[in-house]
Amino acid sequence: MQLRVCAVAELPPGEVAVAQGPPRIAVFNVDGELYALEDQCTHQQAWLSDGFVEGCAVECPLHASLFDLRTGKPSGPPAIRAVHTYQVAVVDEQIMVTVEDS
Ligand code: FES
Repeated sequence: MQLRVCAVAELPPGEVAVAQGPPRIAVFNVDGELYALEDQCTHQQAWLSDGFVEGCAVECPLHASLFDLRTGKPSGPPAIRAVHTYQVAVVDEQIMVTVEDS
């Protein structure tokens, strides 16, 4: 199933957009590349969309685990588990992410 996030024009480089879902997904635009991942940190209750992007990773705003935007993997504790990543595509000027049917 494809979930619409927003129009491409609404997500310029350096910004993040959130699809409320479920699942809630954050889409980051890093220098024109789009990355979609599960918005909730795997450690505790924090939204990665509130975090800080450093290169190709996002730092959790609560305890600073750094998640790779390409793989969802944390670089170190306190988070141990990766966040889910999603395929993202632009269709008719709309940003769409593919989520598994449940
Ligand atoms: S809630 Fe994200 S590292 Fe703790």
